[in-house]
Amino acid sequence: MLHMDDLDTPALTVDLDIMEDNIRRLQAYCDAHSIALRPHIKTHKVPAIAHMQRRAGAQGIACQKLGEAEVFAAAGFDDILIPYNIVGRAKLERLARLMHQCHLTVAADSVTTIRGLAWAAAEAEQPLDVIIELEGEIERAGVHTPEEAVALARAIETTPELHYRGVMIYPSDPESAPKLRAFLDALAAAHLPAEMVSGGGTGAAYHSHEVPELTEIRVGTYVYNDWNTVRRGWCTVEQCAQRVICTVVSRPTPDRAIIDGGSKTFSSDGELPMGHILEYPEAAIYHMDEEHGYVDISRCARKPEIGERVRVIPNHACPVSNLHDVIYGLRGDRVETIWPILARGKTQ
Ligand SMILES: Cc1ncc(COP(=O)(O)O)c(C=O)c1O
Repeated sequence: MLHMDDLDTPALTVDLDIMEDNIRRLQAYCDAHSIALRPHIKTHKVPAIAHMQRRAGAQGIACQKLGEAEVFAAAGFDDILIPYNIVGRAKLERLARLMHQCHLTVAADSVTTIRGLAWAAAEAEQPLDVIIELEGEIERAGVHTPEEAVALARAIETTPELHYRGVMIYPSDPESAPKLRAFLDALAAAHLPAEMVSGGGTGAAYHSHEVPELTEIRVGTYVYNDWNTVRRGWCTVEQCAQRVICTVVSRPTPDRAIIDGGSKTFSSDGELPMGHILEYPEAAIYHMDEEHGYVDISRCARKPEIGERVRVIPNHACPVSNLHDVIYGLRGDRVETIWPILARGKTQ
């Protein structure tokens, strides 16, 4: 059996025991509170892992991109939510085709998006389930006021090709609950109650019972966790399953080491330090070029040698998955499985 020391670097790995425990823990929480768990596959992009989440009790999956949904529908997933505005003829034609392969629910925040979705549903000759994206705390996409939500829900309801199902928000932490409630109250008062209230976010996940309106949560990062999750106090280092094995390739000064993973391996996402080196917790990755990770080792009592291998917990798990062809599943230090990351690079 392959040993992790046999893997050439940089090598993307997942500790299977930790990942399985992460899957079990959140599923048990959701089951205890009767909230449906809809894993967001953007974190791993691996159908085999989503099958594990489904076997644990997840109900459906979320895919951020149509291209991801195409991969997962082909892998047998039949309840897919795309919490993203699908806009433009090319995508709407693909959406119409995908509607024949699985049950889809799509989010929208404008009449323009709704018109396109109606066109796709007409092409597919079947109705399409639509939810309204509400603006949450991060003020990204999403309708801004309860009045706009009511107008949009009415527009969906009166479009024969579409079926109005409810709303989504991101993230759905208790701080955003008053805003969510104002939207839901306005919809109910207009006789457009939301049957589906989809929340999300790893930081919000274990607080979902404090927002009893939620019928489901879309959670992605929890499956691996990452250094951002640790930094925010949402998990411990021991609960981080995704690690990139890198090699120290240079020690130009006593206080600087260079590893063979840079932005091409990790992306440049997130705050400093850019991840965490398990073997050298006092070290700080302070910069990345494409092929070089710059590590400040001034605070390390023992310093890494050239040729030494280190395991890095990345800042942000999701873009890392997007950068690698495969992920090695490790049981202890043995490679138990090698999964192709089938939905990587599906940006469209
Ligand atoms: C719309 C939406 N839902 C759910 C998620 C999952 O969030 P997390 O990875 O924090 O669990 C994301 C992540 O970006 C998102 O954009």
